[in-house]
Amino acid sequence: MYSRIIGTGRYLPERILTNADLEKMVDTTDEWIRARTGIERRHIAADDETTCDMSEVAARRAMKAAGVTAKDIDMVVVGTTTPDQVFPNVGCLLQARLGIHGCAAFSVEAACTGFIYALGIADKFIRTGEIRTALVIGAETISRMVDWTDRSTCVLFGDGAGAVVLRADEEAGIISTHLHADGKYKDLLYFPSGVSKKSKDFLAGTDTLVMKGNEVFKVAVSTLGRIVDETLAANNLDKHDIDWLIPHQANMRIIRATARKLDMPLERVIVTVHEHGNTSTASVPMALDLAVRDGRIKRGELLLLEAFGGGFTWGSALIRY
Ligand code: COA
Repeated sequence: MYSRIIGTGRYLPERILTNADLEKMVDTTDEWIRARTGIERRHIAADDETTCDMSEVAARRAMKAAGVTAKDIDMVVVGTTTPDQVFPNVGCLLQARLGIHGCAAFSVEAACTGFIYALGIADKFIRTGEIRTALVIGAETISRMVDWTDRSTCVLFGDGAGAVVLRADEEAGIISTHLHADGKYKDLLYFPSGVSKKSKDFLAGTDTLVMKGNEVFKVAVSTLGRIVDETLAANNLDKHDIDWLIPHQANMRIIRATARKLDMPLERVIVTVHEHGNTSTASVPMALDLAVRDGRIKRGELLLLEAFGGGFTWGSALIRY
């Protein structure tokens, strides 16, 4: 038994922040941002818009595309590091919105890799026969964690949500997922406070995401190269067998490096980073949905999804769409 993606959806907030807007906020230029990152604009959640609000829209679109209703869903898994509240988790909040009752619902906190983790978990439940249909989301309101006066980070991030519906099928489907983490990198990319630990900035309401960009960049490129190798080797595949690369959309230079590793022309890579910057765990399911809906990705093609994020966490999924 395998799990198969039978529907996808995405949502981007209406409010757009362009590089030109950022030029008025911090000491930066459109040229610098494009050259270093490939980002042109990002979407920012409205003041009263939450991770669950965005997840709901993406989920409804995915469920409509899949032709399923609330009663078909046996599990809700939301990858997010920016939940509406600590508990109930976003999965439960989303359940209530969608009228899904009784099945397991939870969130997975693995920063930018959260969606790949959520996908790997839901896939295992379907493979073992425990459930038949799962709603898997990656959603983030990361703009709320960003210091909008720090040019080295604020130009990079945006908000959004992506969703897929997985269903049991005798044919693959998700062929394999590969999930990893190494906490020794905890000081390179982090948000300082939580519930049990509150920094003095948190108490002052000024806590923000911290990143050593240069070091993150180097580890990301080498780690994503390794996970591509691992995924191909685990499935006895050659890099030329992959039809589409759907990478985490953090930075165009990191995406290019992974594409080079696969000897893949950029036309076979789904790139959305220019449109919304780094939306953390929402970026992979949103890119997948975009390319499915615009007809680039077709049934039967082989997809490699990969992501890397704070922790560090990283992971991949090999999928026969
Ligand atoms: N506009 C203009 N100049 C900027 C700037 C901005 N928005 N941000 C930083 N700079 C300046 C720095 O102050 C520095 O100036 P200095 O040389 O006078 O000190 C110079 O640009 C170079 O900074 P550096 O940090 O070395 O740039 P970089 O080439 O490493 O690019 C990133 C910065 C953040 C784009 C890059 O490191 C990166 O993409 N890292 C990975 C980030 C990421 O993807 N994180 C999420 C992983 S999930």
